Amino acid sequence: MTLAKQDTQGTLGIDFGTSNSAIAWANPQATAQLIPLEGDALAMPTAVFYNAEDGRTHFGREAITHYLEGTEGRLMRSLKSLLGSPLLMETTLINNQLVNFQDIVTTFLSTLRERATRHVGTAPTRVVMGRPVHFVDDDLARDAQAQASLHQAATAAGFTDITFQLEPIAAALDYERRLTRESTILVADIGGGTSDFTVVRLGPACMHRSDRADDVLATTGVHVGGTDFDQKLSLEQLMPLLGYGHLGPQSREVPNRVFYDLSTWHLINWQYQPKAMAQAKALQTNYTDVHLHTRLMTVLNERYGHHMAHDVEQAKIHSSQTGSESSIDLSYVEAGLTASLGSGDLQQHLAKLLASAVACARECVKRAGLTHGKPDAIYLTGGSSALRTFQQALQAEFAGVPLVEGDLFGGVASGLVYSRH
Ligand SMILES: Nc1ncnc2c1ncn2[C@@H]1O[C@H](COP(=O)(O)OP(=O)(O)OP(=O)(O)O)[C@@H](O)[C@H]1O
Ligand SMILES: [Mg+2]
Repeated sequence: MTLAKQDTQGTLGIDFGTSNSAIAWANPQATAQLIPLEGDALAMPTAVFYNAEDGRTHFGREAITHYLEGTEGRLMRSLKSLLGSPLLMETTLINNQLVNFQDIVTTFLSTLRERATRHVGTAPTRVVMGRPVHFVDDDLARDAQAQASLHQAATAAGFTDITFQLEPIAAALDYERRLTRESTILVADIGGGTSDFTVVRLGPACMHRSDRADDVLATTGVHVGGTDFDQKLSLEQLMPLLGYGHLGPQSREVPNRVFYDLSTWHLINWQYQPKAMAQAKALQTNYTDVHLHTRLMTVLNERYGHHMAHDVEQAKIHSSQTGSESSIDLSYVEAGLTASLGSGDLQQHLAKLLASAVACARECVKRAGLTHGKPDAIYLTGGSSALRTFQQALQAEFAGVPLVEGDLFGGVASGLVYSRH
């Protein structure tokens, strides 16, 4: 008689986020544990820094710190936003080697796997990767390509059993462990790159069913997240200092492409290519105040693009948390230069983007066809769900439905593991 082969293998969950990544591990039937990635931190920025001074590669907070301290080298952020785009396969010269962005994603996943190995004691081969509802809006072919690229990177990183789960479903499976009675929940996962929603039936009785497909009543997602908020805030509050919206001779605006790209996390690096630099230099004749053009060229020559994006992001978080105005110190661009960002700016400049996220939530609830038209609660996860203006907009849409603030950065990774339990 042969015994059925027991599943003794553990599962790793990888939440490869636009801004932050987290990983969780569980042996069969055990509770998922988030794995510390940098010191005690259970999430780390999805950031890679190629140090040109000593040829080393740094990850996470360490990568960002090196860049901000002015170490010579290249910072890579928002890699996930390149999945599904032809830019993913473009090569770039890093420390005298030609690499493409697909390779950089592999390097990042390999590092997550190494850190998991150090913690767990064996190298994980089975992984559940998170994916947004849409990597790319309204383009099924590019969306499929994005998942295929992530699959390929996971294979190259050493995983052999690779499955995918929608990020908001993973977040729901994690939240479910805390519920004591059956409820219908709208899960809102508002991250760096996407806002994903799912209406799902959760509770202790459903939790042990192996197939949960019937409990997922609807999912929707839109390609709007914190990096889009940063882009908009940068355009409105910082880029005018470099000439965005500036009127040149004949009252014509300075061509604005460079300001958009310089405000977009995943496009910043392209602005430093020789061709883009030459185009920016040639913009000088479009300015009446050439002083603003000098600032633009300083930002490009000194590669301050990520620095400015980082400052806007920090100011956004600060204003959202405190309701007060932040002063952004831009003295690295020009002595005494500052910009400001207050909660009024968040309210005004983000209104349209937040409305599209709320519309996506409304559509999700509509598709779920709930008897009373409303979920029992809304579970908030993902860093951008902490944005006060977003919470206000969501509460206005679903009056009377309690908002539950969840784990901002770790819930998806844990839930990914539960989806293979
Ligand atoms: N307190 C806060 N208030 C507002 N926004 C915040 C706060 N904390 C973090 N953020 C924003 O949250 C975003 C990152 O969230 P998160 O780590 O959940 O995203 P991600 O998982 O990397 O992205 P995605 O799931 O879209 O791929 C960033 O844009 C960051 O600026
Ligand atoms: Mg996320």
